[in-house]
Amino acid sequence: MDKTLYRLVYLSRNNITGNDSQLQEEISGILEVSRRHNHQAGVTGALMFNTGCFAQVLEGAHDKIQDTFERIQCDPRHCKVSVLAFDQIDERFFSNWDMAYVGQNAQSIEQFAGFNEKSGLDFSILDGEQVFRLLRTHLEEAERA
Ligand SMILES: Cc1cc2nc3c(=O)[nH]c(=O)nc-3n(C[C@H](O)[C@H](O)[C@H](O)COP(=O)(O)O)c2cc1C
Repeated sequence: MDKTLYRLVYLSRNNITGNDSQLQEEISGILEVSRRHNHQAGVTGALMFNTGCFAQVLEGAHDKIQDTFERIQCDPRHCKVSVLAFDQIDERFFSNWDMAYVGQNAQSIEQFAGFNEKSGLDFSILDGEQVFRLLRTHLEEAERA
C-alpha cells in the first residue's frame, strides 16, 4: 500500500442560507458525515466556516483525498470551490482529527481572503500554506482555551 501522504487545501463560498441555528445544524450534519467517511478512508483534516465561506484541509493518501474531494466538490451547499494546494507532505498535522471544526471564528477567513460584500473573496491573493497555517493556529488556540 502506498503510504505517501498528501495535503489538499481549498476555499469555497457558502451556499447555505438561514439563521444561525439553521446554519449550525447544517454544519453539524456535514461534520457528522465527514467524520464517518474520513475515519474509514484514513483522511484527517480541519474545516473552518463562517457565513461567507469555507476553508478546508484534507490529509491522507492521494486516492482517498481525491475520492473525498470529488464528493465535496459536487456538494450544492457550497460553490466556487478553489484548490489552493495539493502537495506531498511528510506527516499529518491533523492526525488526531477525522475532521476538526475550527468554528465561526470572527471574520478571520473573510479578512484573510480580502473579502468584501461587493466582490466576495479574492482567491487570487491566497495561498494554501497561509490557509493551512490559519486553520492550524485557530485549532491550537481552541485547544489551549
Ligand atoms: C464544506 C464541506 C465540507 C465537506 N467535507 C467533507 C469531508 O471532509 N468528508 C466527506 O466525506 N464529506 C464531506 N462533505 C460532505 C460531502 O460533500 C458529501 O455530502 C458526503 O460525503 C456524502 O456522503 P453520503 O454519500 O454518505 O451522503 C463536505 C461538504 C461540505 C459542504
